[in-house]
Amino acid sequence: MTQTAVIIGVGPAEGLGAYLGVKAAEAGLHVIVSGRTQKDLDAVVKIICSFGGKATGIVADATNLSSVNSLIKKAEAIGPIDLAIYNAGNNFSGNFLTMDAEYFENAWRVCTLGGFLFAQATLKAMLERASGTLIFTGASASMRGKPNFAAFTAAKAGLRAMAQSLAREFQPQGIHLGHIVIDGGIMGDKVVKTHPKFAAKAGIDGLIGLTGIAEAYLYLYRQPRNAWTFELDLRTHKENF
Ligand SMILES: NC(=O)c1ccc[n+]([C@@H]2O[C@H](COP(=O)([O-])OP(=O)(O)OC[C@H]3O[C@@H](n4cnc5c(N)ncnc54)[C@H](OP(=O)(O)O)[C@@H]3O)[C@@H](O)[C@H]2O)c1
Repeated sequence: MTQTAVIIGVGPAEGLGAYLGVKAAEAGLHVIVSGRTQKDLDAVVKIICSFGGKATGIVADATNLSSVNSLIKKAEAIGPIDLAIYNAGNNFSGNFLTMDAEYFENAWRVCTLGGFLFAQATLKAMLERASGTLIFTGASASMRGKPNFAAFTAAKAGLRAMAQSLAREFQPQGIHLGHIVIDGGIMGDKVVKTHPKFAAKAGIDGLIGLTGIAEAYLYLYRQPRNAWTFELDLRTHKENF
């Protein structure tokens, strides 16, 4: 039976979620790409199918329990989930003193609570087989706070802390947990389309490449169970860190 990969937080074709989908399909998995926008998912499925890969797009909201549970149930019906990636999380910046509580809470819902819902549903399926890989997408904010990023930092650091706890709890039960810190801007639509001048100034070596990032996830996925990595951090050679 074909094994599946589920990636939640898939947006435009030039984005991390989409590249993760392509890499997972190249590895022979039937990929379930999931996000909030059907049109984006259709485009990614088309790309994967164009090289003979297998993919299905399922709209889901990572912050909604029944939506996430339904996604995992549908994925398992296609084939056992061997790779699951929590990639949802737009950048939540903002002035701390004028930020309302709803904004702060929403950052936590997307970046932290969603990771909990996704992990819980995925782990229940994987534990039945005592195998599978579950990876979370982090950011610079996972490791350190900076001005105007209180909400995003609290949320991403929470996701990382949860992932660490899950690694210590479930790796002994056969599940590989991973967290990837993307330490800098990504050369994808989110930055290039929203901040074109910044992207042009940064240039190809000033933003982290999508192919290199996606390959890092697959590197963790392919590791044998007697040599597992929990965390990788990725940045361009120009990054001051
Ligand atoms: N872009 C960067 O420079 C950068 C840097 C460091 C880390 N990261 C991390 O990388 C990941 C995203 O990569 P990316 O920026 O290239 O974007 P992407 O993977 O192209 O897209 C991420 C998608 O997640 C979706 N999403 C947001 N909230 C969701 C929810 N509640 N349920 C389901 N899907 C949801 C967004 O949908 P909508 O389009 O509907 O909003 C978006 O399309 C995030 O975890 C982010 O924190 C990004």
